[in-house]
Amino acid sequence: MLADTYYLNNGYPMPKVGLGVYKITEEEMEKAVNAALESGYRAFDTAYFYKNEIALGNALKKADIPRSDLFITSKIWNDYQGYDKTIEFFTKSIENLGTDYLDLFLIHWPCEADNLFIETYKAMEKLYKEGRIRAIGVCNFKQHHLETLMAETEITPAVNQIEVHPYFSQHELQAYCDDNDIAVTAWMPLMRNQGLLDHPVITDIANRYGKTPAQVVLRWHLAHNRLIIPKSKTPERIKENYDIFDFTLELRDIAEIDNLNRNDRQSKDPDKVRIGDLK
Ligand SMILES: NC(=O)c1ccc[n+]([C@@H]2O[C@H](COP(=O)([O-])OP(=O)(O)OC[C@H]3O[C@@H](n4cnc5c(N)ncnc54)[C@H](OP(=O)(O)O)[C@@H]3O)[C@@H](O)[C@H]2O)c1
Repeated sequence: MLADTYYLNNGYPMPKVGLGVYKITEEEMEKAVNAALESGYRAFDTAYFYKNEIALGNALKKADIPRSDLFITSKIWNDYQGYDKTIEFFTKSIENLGTDYLDLFLIHWPCEADNLFIETYKAMEKLYKEGRIRAIGVCNFKQHHLETLMAETEITPAVNQIEVHPYFSQHELQAYCDDNDIAVTAWMPLMRNQGLLDHPVITDIANRYGKTPAQVVLRWHLAHNRLIIPKSKTPERIKENYDIFDFTLELRDIAEIDNLNRNDRQSKDPDKVRIGDLK
């Protein structure tokens, strides 16, 4: 369905809604993947760091969906940045997933102080040119990281996957990405259900539309031209989070949610993350 699809800057189609699988365990994976596939998801967002690539790959294989219908994203972990390690750990990721290519491969954090992301990205460009990755991009890059990267490399990142939710809307970074044709994917799009979904502005809008708070927040992301990868291990929520293509928010409701922004980053500041910091 066209409404579900975003065309990346190289023309490659990416589903607007994918299942984030961070913290989904081996035991939970099959149920989550089956619920997602039944609900219409075809995109799955994992990372070497999540230690669940094998579980995701096995669940997808069991479901027997043609590989070409799936969109699989993984990420190169901080500790393995650098040209040779990137090739090595890309290979490990695709072996873990049981596939011979990735749809999207991302740098997980810039770790700029360690000065390796240019070399990392150059290895990704090579893999892209060899056809082993359909699109390449980054996560957690601020504008200055993107400027440095684009000055020194050839291919504009297709995606910047960043923390975005109504309390941390990243308006300026999104505008910069929009201007440079870099698709923003929101991670933590539901703010991990830590209070946001009970905010009266969100619950009032949800009641007016006859939708759930999560559906309203996810629709708000789509209204801002973002891709989303909500995580859930719960089949009902997985279905709920995909069931958002039958309504749109009015401009005044989008603006009301925009007004909730308090520049409240929940996770790490990308300028402060160095190789070896996160375990
Ligand atoms: N690039 C990066 O650095 C980075 C960092 C973090 C995350 N990510 C990616 O982004 C994905 C999503 O982010 P996230 O997992 O941090 O946070 P999130 O998607 O905002 O929130 C996930 C939490 O919300 C709950 N939830 C999901 N749907 C719900 C609903 N409809 N109603 C109420 N609660 C709901 C889930 O509970 P249950 O699971 O218990 O149902 C889970 O506790 C990750 O899985 C990962 O793929 C990327």
